[in-house]
Amino acid sequence: MITIGVTGGIAAYKVIDVASALKKLGYEIQVVMTKNSTEFAAPLAFATITGKPVITDMTDGDGEVLHIEIAKKSKIILIAPATANIIAKLRAGIADDFLTTMVLATKGTVVLAPAMNSNMYTNPVVQENISVLKSRGYLVIEPDSGVLACGDVGVGKLPDAVKITAYIKDLNDKPAVDQDLLGKKYLITAGRTVEAIDPMRYLSNYSTGKMGYALAEMAKDRGAEVILVSGPTNLTPPAGVTVVEVISARDMYKAVHENYTDVDVVIKAAAVADFRPKEVQAEKIKKGDDKLVLELVKNPDILKSLGDTKKNQILVGFAAESQNVIENATEKLKSKNLDIIVANNIKEEGAGFSADTNIATIIERDGTVSFIPKMSKKELANIILDKTKRGR
Ligand code: C5P
Repeated sequence: MITIGVTGGIAAYKVIDVASALKKLGYEIQVVMTKNSTEFAAPLAFATITGKPVITDMTDGDGEVLHIEIAKKSKIILIAPATANIIAKLRAGIADDFLTTMVLATKGTVVLAPAMNSNMYTNPVVQENISVLKSRGYLVIEPDSGVLACGDVGVGKLPDAVKITAYIKDLNDKPAVDQDLLGKKYLITAGRTVEAIDPMRYLSNYSTGKMGYALAEMAKDRGAEVILVSGPTNLTPPAGVTVVEVISARDMYKAVHENYTDVDVVIKAAAVADFRPKEVQAEKIKKGDDKLVLELVKNPDILKSLGDTKKNQILVGFAAESQNVIENATEKLKSKNLDIIVANNIKEEGAGFSADTNIATIIERDGTVSFIPKMSKKELANIILDKTKRGR
């Protein structure tokens, strides 16, 4: 069953279309409304569409413990629109009405679709509440930008019903995956770093982030809590993953170390720039002379610094090599104190940066070498994740 929790925002009326579309797809839908939301959309409209009475009150249910029953039956609870108020209550664990009490009692997946004025949405307290809920496994359908009900222009619009319906359908139809990484915390880096030269120019590389994002998605699907530290990419982060966006290698160094102590596994799939311009010019460099010499300095080796301070974490590195793959990768595994290294020969067709596939050689600390033939980055991600399980 899919339960739709409607809270008191102007966008509540739009959720009638979501309930209708999901019902037409054949799902059993139960609507739960907060008191405030009934001022914005009529319970009768939801009841007529879903063919079930709408629950608005703790006393609904004629003496049954209805909030527990609905909590147990709900595979997904979609809260749309999710106001700043419900987000704060869920973060704090307040249970003062049917919806909040039911959410506390569910083992289903909770999806929030926040919608509010953009100043409210971008308020640090709301953002912090959302990120805490994400870290607890809540999924969030990000709001759209546009003209808001109050006339302001900005982020905070409830996405249209088609988009919300597609999200819920995809989530519901995803095959059940063995939750073998439940209780584990993974820190995954992805993408490239960008090293500024002047206000308009930078040094970087061709990494797209596909391998790191595939690892994050698969780890999340298998039950892990995932922090994805990502350089700039064109990819949409997987649902339910906490994303820390970074630009430069030094930003990435900071973000990784801030999260290092309490994670079980670190996978460094990012293509970090080894060098950066010694100085970032405050003004655009003029083309005046025929020659321009840029002085570069070494970036910190993030992975090596993790290896040097490793306690119980399992450390996984990547090695993009163009020759002597096994020798070079093994040397890297040792010098960076890694547990696993995933080497690709970037010269092979179907391996490396922008492809959807990869060809890898995985070398483990005990000397085990596995040759992985060409396969999708998601399949390879699952093999790498298998190897990060201790005592497997
Ligand atoms: O030494 P090399 O750059 O080939 O090692 C690649 C591995 O080291 C990757 O896992 C990459 O994310 C990581 N790395 C890093 N910091 C750097 C350079 C590479 O963490 N400055």
